[in-house]
Amino acid sequence: MKAPDFDFVVLGSGIAGLTFALQAAAHGRVLVLCKGSLSETNTAYAQGGIAAVLDPTDSFEKHVQDTLEAGAGLCDETAVRFMVQNAPASIQWLQGIAVGFDENESGNLALGLEGGHSHHRIVHVKDHTGCSIQQALESAVRRHPNISVQEHQMGIELLTDTSKSGTFCYGVQVLDLHTQEFRSIPAHAVVLATGGSGQVYQYTTNPGIATGDGLAMAARAGAEIRNMEFFQFHPTALYQPNGEVFLIREALRGAGAELVLPDGSRFMYRYHPLGSLAPRDIVARAVLTEMQNHNSPCLYLDVRHLPAGHVRSNFPFIYHKCATIGIEVEKQLIPVVPAAHYQCGGVKTNLHSQTSIDRLYAIGEVACTGVHGANRLASNSLLEGVVFAQLTAAHVASLVSGQLPTIPECSSGKDSTGAWWLGMEAEVALSRAALQKLLWEQAGIVRSTVGLQHCQSQIERLQRKAQGIAELTGIQQKVQELHNLLTVAELITRAALARRESVGGHYVAAATPAESQDPYKTLTVDAPETGI
Ligand code: FAD
Ligand code: SIN
Repeated sequence: MKAPDFDFVVLGSGIAGLTFALQAAAHGRVLVLCKGSLSETNTAYAQGGIAAVLDPTDSFEKHVQDTLEAGAGLCDETAVRFMVQNAPASIQWLQGIAVGFDENESGNLALGLEGGHSHHRIVHVKDHTGCSIQQALESAVRRHPNISVQEHQMGIELLTDTSKSGTFCYGVQVLDLHTQEFRSIPAHAVVLATGGSGQVYQYTTNPGIATGDGLAMAARAGAEIRNMEFFQFHPTALYQPNGEVFLIREALRGAGAELVLPDGSRFMYRYHPLGSLAPRDIVARAVLTEMQNHNSPCLYLDVRHLPAGHVRSNFPFIYHKCATIGIEVEKQLIPVVPAAHYQCGGVKTNLHSQTSIDRLYAIGEVACTGVHGANRLASNSLLEGVVFAQLTAAHVASLVSGQLPTIPECSSGKDSTGAWWLGMEAEVALSRAALQKLLWEQAGIVRSTVGLQHCQSQIERLQRKAQGIAELTGIQQKVQELHNLLTVAELITRAALARRESVGGHYVAAATPAESQDPYKTLTVDAPETGI
C-alpha cells in the first residue's frame, strides 16, 4: 500500500475535465490525461455558445421550461433547475479565467437566440466560442502548480475492486501512445470527462477523438448507463460532396437564416410553429423527409435576405468555410444535411456526478445527469459541463486521504510499426467504417424494429471479428477505439429496441428502407467482409 502520486485523475481535457481540474486543484493534486493533444476536444469545435439567463426580461423558469420541453418530458427536473440556476455564476467564472464573451453596444453580454429557446440567452464569442473557452481553460491549467497534464495518454480500463459496501474505483490503466507502454495510475477519485461518441455514426459533427471510450470503460466496469437511445442529430451540417462534415450553427437560423427546399421555398412552418428554429430532432427529421421527398442529397439554408455583411461579421468561421468551397453566402444557398451531433445518454450520475461505482465520477457529455432527457436544448451542453464539473470538485475534496489497493503490474503493448500491423490497421479501419455505416442506416435519425434487430446481429458479427483482431494485435489505440465503439453501438441499439415509442431523439418508424434515409448514399463506402 502506498499513497498515490495524484489525488484525482481526470480523463479528458474539454470544458468538463479542465474546469474540474482547476476547481479540484484547491483540494489536492490533479492529473489530467488526454488521448490527443490538450486542445483536441469537442469543446474546441463548439461554435454556438452557452445558455444562461442574463437578461432581466428572461427568467430561470423559462430556461427550465425550454429545457424540459426539448427533453420531451424525460429530463430530471431537479438536475435541470440546478444547472439553470448555476448558469450565470458559471459564465462569470469563465469570464474570470479570461473568456472574452461578445458584448453589445451598452457593454452587456450579447445574447443570441437558438432553436427551442424562448428568449435570447446564448453567450458567445463570435462563432468560435468553444475554441476561446478551450484556450482560456488550457492556459489556466498549464499555469496551475497543482495540476499535471499528460497528453497522448489513452485510458484503457478502470481499476476497480469490490468490498462489502460495493464496487469502488481506485485508478485507471493507461496506454502511453508515444511508447506503447501501459501504466496503472492510482487515485482517490477517477473522473471521466471523455466526451461523446459521435464517431459511432458515419456522418458526425464530432472530431475523431469522440469514440465513447469513457462510456465503454464505465460500462465494462459495471457502471449504470442510461438513455443511450437518445442521440441528437444536428439538422444543418454543411453538405460537402467529399463527405467531410462541418457544422453550420443554429444561431445562424436564430439570426434569420431559413431552411429551404431545392426550389428555394420555405417549408419548416409545415412541421412546427417555430419554423426553422423548432427543436433539433423535429428539424433534423423534417430535413431528412424533404430530402427524400425531393430525392435531393441535401437541402439549403438561405441567408440572402439578411443585411449585407451580417454573416461575414457575426459568423466569420462559417462565412470563410463556405467561401473555401466556392459558396458566396450573400448570393448563394448553403447546402446542408443532418449529422450525428450529441450523445444525450451516458454514464448515470447524480447531482454530485457520482456514478454507480464508488469514487468514479462522470462529467460533461460522457455523463447522463438527466438534464437533457430525450433531447438536448441547444447550448446546454457546455453549460452542463462547466456547472457539474464545479460541483464535482467540491464533492471529491473529502476523499483526499487513505491508502489504495496495490495496483496491478502492467506489460508493454505490442509493436505496431511492422508491415503486419499495416494490414491489421486496414482491417480495423474497414470494421470501423462498416459499423459507422450500419449505425447511420439502422439506428440513426429514423429507426425501425427490424432495422435495429439487423443492427444488433451485425454488431455481434463485428464484435467477433474485432475480438479476432485484438487477439493478434494486443491493445492498440485503433483496436481499442473499435472495441469501445462496438460497446457504444450495442448500448444504443439495445436501448433503442427497448423503447418502443418515438420520443425526442429516438424516432421509430413502422419500416424504413435503409437506403432512402441516407443523404450521402452516393458517397458511402462499402466495407466488405474480410478473412478475419
Ligand atoms: P470533450 O470536449 O469532447 O473532451 C473530451 C476529452 O476526452 C478530450 O480531451 C479527449 O482527448 C479525452 N478522451 C477521450 N477518450 C479518452 C481516453 N480513452 N483516454 C484519455 N482521454 C480521452 N455545445 C454547446 O453547449 N454549445 C455549442 O455551441 C456547441 N456546439 C458544438 C459544435 C460542434 C461541432 C460539436 C461537435 C459539439 C458542439 N456542442 C456544443 C457540444 C459540446 O461541444 C460538447 O458536448 C462538449 O464540448 C463536451 O465537452 P466534454 O468536456 O464533455 O468533452
Ligand atoms: C449549434 O450552434 O448549432 C450547436 C449548438 C449546440 O450544439 O448546442
